[in-house]
Amino acid sequence: MKVHIGFAIFAFLTLAAAVAEAQPKSNSIEAGHQIATRWCSHCHLVGPEQMRATDAVPTFAAIANKPTTTASSLRAFLQAPHWASRMPDLHLSRTEINDVAAYILSLRKPSH
Ligand code: HEC
Repeated sequence: MKVHIGFAIFAFLTLAAAVAEAQPKSNSIEAGHQIATRWCSHCHLVGPEQMRATDAVPTFAAIANKPTTTASSLRAFLQAPHWASRMPDLHLSRTEINDVAAYILSLRKPSH
């Protein structure tokens, strides 16, 4: 029996891509943390490791623990233009917005 090597490689790569796609999005929290450190930490306190930020700006932990904060409220806020706010427009991609939202929500204190 002869298996076409090109087809075998194609089949393997397709399968590998499908498996990668199906992974739970746990690295999006890490990606979101990196985006937050890079783009948001000038103003927001984005995590416990950060020593300084602007005290007039809500910390990401405070945002995460507001009862009105959800993944979709964060996405809506980050997609909307902020012409009436002191928060700049950061022009994040959809993936970046999802990652940052996942990161912010990961800071939510467990309710008990
Ligand atoms: C130049 C300073 C600055 C930067 C940079 C900045 N923010 Fe903000 N952000 C603010 C301010 C100020 C507010 C408070 C809202 C207001 O005053 O209108 C705010 C509010 C928010 C809120 C809403 C908080 C609430 O009360 O619901 C979210 C969410 C948020 N920022 C996320 C981010 C994310 C994510 C980034 C990085 C991608 C970022 N911000 C970068 C200044 C900034």
